Amino acid sequence: MAKSKHYPIAVLPGDGTGPEVVNEGIKVLEAAGNKHDISFEFTDFDFGGDRYLKTGETLPDSAIGQLKKFKAVYLGAIGHPDVPPGVLEVGILLKLRFSLDQYINLRPVKLYPGVDCPLKDKGPEDIDFVVVRENTGDLYAGHGGVTRKGTPYEVATQVMLYDRQMIDRCLEYAFNLTRARKEEGKPGKLTLVHKTNVIVYVGDLWYRAFMEMSEKFPDIKTEYNHVDAACMWMVKNPEWYDVIVTSNMFGDIITDLGAMIQGGMGIAAGGNINPYGTSMFEPIGGSAPKYTGKNVINPLAAIEAGRMMLKHLGESQAAKSIENAVAHICTKIKSLSAGKMGYSTSQVGDLVAEYIRKS
Ligand code: IPM
Ligand code: MN
Repeated sequence: MAKSKHYPIAVLPGDGTGPEVVNEGIKVLEAAGNKHDISFEFTDFDFGGDRYLKTGETLPDSAIGQLKKFKAVYLGAIGHPDVPPGVLEVGILLKLRFSLDQYINLRPVKLYPGVDCPLKDKGPEDIDFVVVRENTGDLYAGHGGVTRKGTPYEVATQVMLYDRQMIDRCLEYAFNLTRARKEEGKPGKLTLVHKTNVIVYVGDLWYRAFMEMSEKFPDIKTEYNHVDAACMWMVKNPEWYDVIVTSNMFGDIITDLGAMIQGGMGIAAGGNINPYGTSMFEPIGGSAPKYTGKNVINPLAAIEAGRMMLKHLGESQAAKSIENAVAHICTKIKSLSAGKMGYSTSQVGDLVAEYIRKS
């Protein structure tokens, strides 16, 4: 029988444990799809370290054109121990984010009940916020250079690049997200994180743009934190945060901290979003080469990435089914760390899928 909703999805399992966790994510998506009358067509792409080592090719331009035909890309992990750092990260992951203009990197930081949190006296009611990381500019934009290379006077620069519209479109997304969360009962507070006391040009641009945009959203409370202080508050008072908006580099750093307070890389997922184009969803933990092929890596982060993908596609109920199942498994699983879960990778995927079928 034909399903009422059908989604073609591009899948990039990638390197290391990427393929293992993506398998479980697909298992869970299929289970949620069956329950909610949704079908998927998954098309695999083999970009990653192995292909690079064989062919010398990272991500050909033709692939971008192909991927643009999909509304969503489901990504496992990029990173290979035999490839020098930067080649695959820049050549594949960043190239995807930039060329698909995925200008938002959305990273929820939510502690599920039953998950071990390294913060003393903090629980699920304290840790439930979202980081909106700008995803195309900043030190990532690739502006800079090197002179006098190899001499004792070598000079290197890397430019923290932003223009006003890059900031505005990111802020607009963040304000709208804060408003949408408010409608679901969240505090309706948006915190800009930067470093205006030192980064006086770019920080000031972000700050002024933020204050101007806030006038269009009088229902949203606004706050500003320097990034170093934000690291402190994320540990000391994470309950103060609802939505954080920040630039690319700061967002990269604080979301690793965020991942730790929500239980670790085993559960942390993110979405690279182009609201008008192709978005890409990924577990944020990387390829974990030492666990590859052992069936011990935690697939929950990839499953959570799948949940975010469904929500992005407008399938809120199916996404909720996955969320409920993940929350349930979090109370069953011994630890979220690879090899310590008390279950294998595929067993965790089975448990989540089974819970969705039965609930
Ligand atoms: C991330 C990663 C990437 C980044 C690397 C692998 C390029 O750390 O997704 O957070 O810096 O954005
Ligand atoms: Mn990172």
